[in-house]
Amino acid sequence: MRPVLSVASECAPLVKTGGLADVAGALPAALAGEGWQMRTLLPGYPEVMAALGQPRKVWTGADLFGGPARLLAARAAGLDLLVLDAPHLYDRAGGPYTDAAGADWPDNPQRFAALSWVAALIARDGVGGWKPDLVHAHDWQAGFTPVYLREMRAEAGSILTIHNIAFQGLAPASMLDTLRLPASGFSENGFEFWGRISALKAGLTAADRITTVSPTYASELCEPEFGVGLDGVIRARRDVLCGILNGIDTALWNPATDPGIHSYKTPRGKAKNKAALAAEFGLPEGDGPLAVVISRLTGQKGLDMLIEVLPGFLDRGGRLALLGTGEKPLEAAWRKAGEDPRVSVKIGYDEALSHRMIAGGDAILVPSRFEPCGLTQLYGLRYGTLPVVALTGGLADTVINANDAGLKAGVATGFQFAPVTAGRLWLALERLCDLWHHDRPAFTLMQRRAMAHPVGWDVSARAYAGLYAQVAKGG
Ligand code: ADP
Ligand code: GLC
Repeated sequence: MRPVLSVASECAPLVKTGGLADVAGALPAALAGEGWQMRTLLPGYPEVMAALGQPRKVWTGADLFGGPARLLAARAAGLDLLVLDAPHLYDRAGGPYTDAAGADWPDNPQRFAALSWVAALIARDGVGGWKPDLVHAHDWQAGFTPVYLREMRAEAGSILTIHNIAFQGLAPASMLDTLRLPASGFSENGFEFWGRISALKAGLTAADRITTVSPTYASELCEPEFGVGLDGVIRARRDVLCGILNGIDTALWNPATDPGIHSYKTPRGKAKNKAALAAEFGLPEGDGPLAVVISRLTGQKGLDMLIEVLPGFLDRGGRLALLGTGEKPLEAAWRKAGEDPRVSVKIGYDEALSHRMIAGGDAILVPSRFEPCGLTQLYGLRYGTLPVVALTGGLADTVINANDAGLKAGVATGFQFAPVTAGRLWLALERLCDLWHHDRPAFTLMQRRAMAHPVGWDVSARAYAGLYAQVAKGG
């Protein structure tokens, strides 16, 4: 097996704020099947440190961006980890990126530059007799890695994966030395971005290859509407950019074996789960579809549009169960929407509940304004919970629309709408209700088809392995 180092700021099941963690957590097993031995470099947050059994110290540094640090090798949760134990950077209560009140840690540039710097060090010197042929960096938090690799003259290829371009890791220009960056790189062709340092741009300009998590998002990133100021940079590197769809863990997300639900193999088996879900959320009886939402509550996810069109959906017999957490104004808006008895809202984060919701829902709603890949629509497909999604990013690539042609051809797996406006979302919900009320056999057929749609890692793992082989050094 060839060695590859994955560098991520979160990794399921140890620490997760979103889909990045699921992907970082799934890649090692997916790539093992393709002949790659992946180790994952993670920050030593308290929850990560607590999960390490008997770690082995493989490196120490007296001053890593302002304090002493150690690198610990360990296996935890089935993952082969390298954990950067640097208490001055990571040992604090709060989230990976923010304090308990939700404000970004002021030293985030140093915290993640340190992670990236140690990644490059591992690639140059190896640790405990292990040295990667390439480094796979995720998002801005690992963005400086390719720059440090170059500075340190490490013999390793590099790949940067963009999971979400809306987060770029900006720092003031005055931090160049603090971040151990070469002054020569602070230019338009390097990591300078409108007078500041951009960790994401550093990766975009210096990595051997750039990937993102769906083919459609890869093309969208080249457009000003989606590029968040970096579309020009990405266009210039179009020849090394590709989109590789995320998969999901089909063992964990399997309606036939899921221990937290009334397991089922056909759409009919959803009925018990639906009744249980309605009861758990305190929803009244209804003859329409029961829709679910499981999401971070941020502007990206477009759930404000859903609030606008909700009355129409409820009038057609619909009910909604929502689980989410995020921006305070959106949480407040949803609490208010939940005052209607047909809408039940839980503000919080609960993995087990998310399984019960996917199992019990008739439809899962993902009206995102942009969505690099999206995972919940994939869970929906697997559980026969039909996705209603915006036609953007990975949502466009994973769902086949139930328009007339899609239904006639017998290929539809969900409902898509474009452009991404409340009006068009409403039309998609209407189509969902129409099919539910007037052609239930067609609805059930779609559920069956959705359940059979491949959502695992096989194809994508092969795509990553192909790319790895192209950029790996040594071996
Ligand atoms: P993003 O990474 O943009 O948040 P994804 O759809 O890629 O979107 O991944 C989100 C992941 O987080 C999914 O696994 C989803 O089930 C999970 N998730 C999001 N919000 C919650 C929540 N409130 N409770 C449980 N799981 C959640
Ligand atoms: C980001 C994106 C999401 C994607 C996830 C994993 O959080 O918002 O669409 O599925 O990363 O790649």
